[in-house]
Amino acid sequence: MNPNDYPVTLDALAALCKRRGFIYPSSEIYGGINGFWDYGPMGCELKRNVREAWWKAMVREREDVVGLDAAIIMHPRVWEASGHVGGFSDPMQSCRQCRRMFRADQVGDQLKESGWWKALTDAAAGAGEGRVAWNAEAANRWLERKGANQAPGLAARLEEGGGAGKSARFAELLEAWAAPGGRLPCPACGGELTAPREFNLMFRTFIGALEDSASQAYLRPETAQGIFANFLNVLDTARVKVPFGIAQIGKAFRNEINPRNYTFRSREFEQMELEFFIPPGTDAEWHAYWVEERLRWYRTIGLPEGRLSKYVYGPKELAHYASACVDVMYEFPFGAQELEGIAARGAFDLGRHQEFSGKSMEYFDAETKQRFVPHVVEPSAGVDRVALAALCEAYREEWVPNEAGAEPRTAKPGEPPPPGFELRTVLRFAPALAPIKAAVFPLLKNRPELVEKARAVFLQLRRRWPVFYDQTGAIGRRYRRQDEIGTPWGITIDFQTLDDDTVTLRDRDTLRQERVPAAGLVERLAAALGER
Ligand code: GAP
Repeated sequence: MNPNDYPVTLDALAALCKRRGFIYPSSEIYGGINGFWDYGPMGCELKRNVREAWWKAMVREREDVVGLDAAIIMHPRVWEASGHVGGFSDPMQSCRQCRRMFRADQVGDQLKESGWWKALTDAAAGAGEGRVAWNAEAANRWLERKGANQAPGLAARLEEGGGAGKSARFAELLEAWAAPGGRLPCPACGGELTAPREFNLMFRTFIGALEDSASQAYLRPETAQGIFANFLNVLDTARVKVPFGIAQIGKAFRNEINPRNYTFRSREFEQMELEFFIPPGTDAEWHAYWVEERLRWYRTIGLPEGRLSKYVYGPKELAHYASACVDVMYEFPFGAQELEGIAARGAFDLGRHQEFSGKSMEYFDAETKQRFVPHVVEPSAGVDRVALAALCEAYREEWVPNEAGAEPRTAKPGEPPPPGFELRTVLRFAPALAPIKAAVFPLLKNRPELVEKARAVFLQLRRRWPVFYDQTGAIGRRYRRQDEIGTPWGITIDFQTLDDDTVTLRDRDTLRQERVPAAGLVERLAAALGER
């Protein structure tokens, strides 16, 4: 796969994802609901392929990992043992004026991005980076004109002091914001923020008819605990020996204060987690193994080396029980961000469940005759994040030649295509991730002999892969539709097919067209998909 040098934006990607049925805002007909997303016909195939690629690499192609599908709602004691009831929280501030909530550690960044803050700093201090001297008079003039609309919370705070002395009061506020540790204003409206308070991120629900503390339960904030809680069950029933792993894919829920960057930080998402149980003392080598293994997997699904990186936690950043943690990062349009965390968590998790449940989590190693609580290395990835990275990597706008023969060129944003070229949007997915593997087209829809043959090819391929049949519109338009959903191959049935049973096979990326025997299509596609 070529490196994607097209500067994709989240706005352009989200527009394509909406238009082509990958991702919709959840409950859109009711105005949407922040932090929740629905995957359309193409999006759900993409996610299935992400899960499938992970499951294949982590479970099916290994002899030391087994699968699990645990319930989303678990005994509430699970979350006490795991530490989520006591500690799974973010410090939050809410605005006394507009009531919006913010993560305390993100207020500064959000403020810098807010329109009213930019306008205010321009008005107050003139142009230029690194300005320090605030001009409270000028800022106040701005507030009295446009600012009252753009920062109504701030305007309200100045009004509190009465008409006179606004600019003196404003100067006081500026000083308070600038002071080390000063409480910044609300990024949305400029109002006053409360002191940070801990906010637990778990969604709560109730089991049964009574809604009291005894019936309270949680939607799981990670799939990992289902694995730890079933450690003994799997050990007793699956003929496994340490070192071995239990893998699980499933939904997780977090009441994120600030869902953002499209699907990157959502309130409902899906995790792919492996808990790999090991003898104490082998943590460092297994951790190093899994970091390399996971990076390799990302490359197999088309994320190039150059946009993947590792973030290695320093000793002060590690949880007290962890001996190592590495995040696999991908260079998203909004910066390098975590796709997966790989942590060496010692015996913490099984140890805590042993303590809270009273059940021994010890393992007896028949070879060494040793008894121990296994340690664990945990590679934990997000399906939605991997799908988003795959979309960002695949998206590009290109200039494609009107005449066959030339290669497409990466478009320059805002510039028209050169003569003889036209613009296309294409998703250059690795074929294994593409929602639809091939599209079959009869050249003309009003020639029954072409349609009949095209349907026969389509039905044959459909037994094995998601394939699309399309007979409407000019052939070029039909290719473009498939380019936009990332279909790697287009198969056209024309008059020559009726003579010699060959079809044209068009490659999405190079646009090259080849004549190939219809009888060899299944084998050809299987080879290209690495399925032979
Ligand atoms: N059991 C460990 C654990 O849950 P985490 O770093 O909190 O660790 C693991 O989450 C992965 O789950 C992340 O690397 C990310 O891919 C995904 N993830 C976490 N929170 C998410 C969110 N709010 N939206 C989308 N994906 C999320």
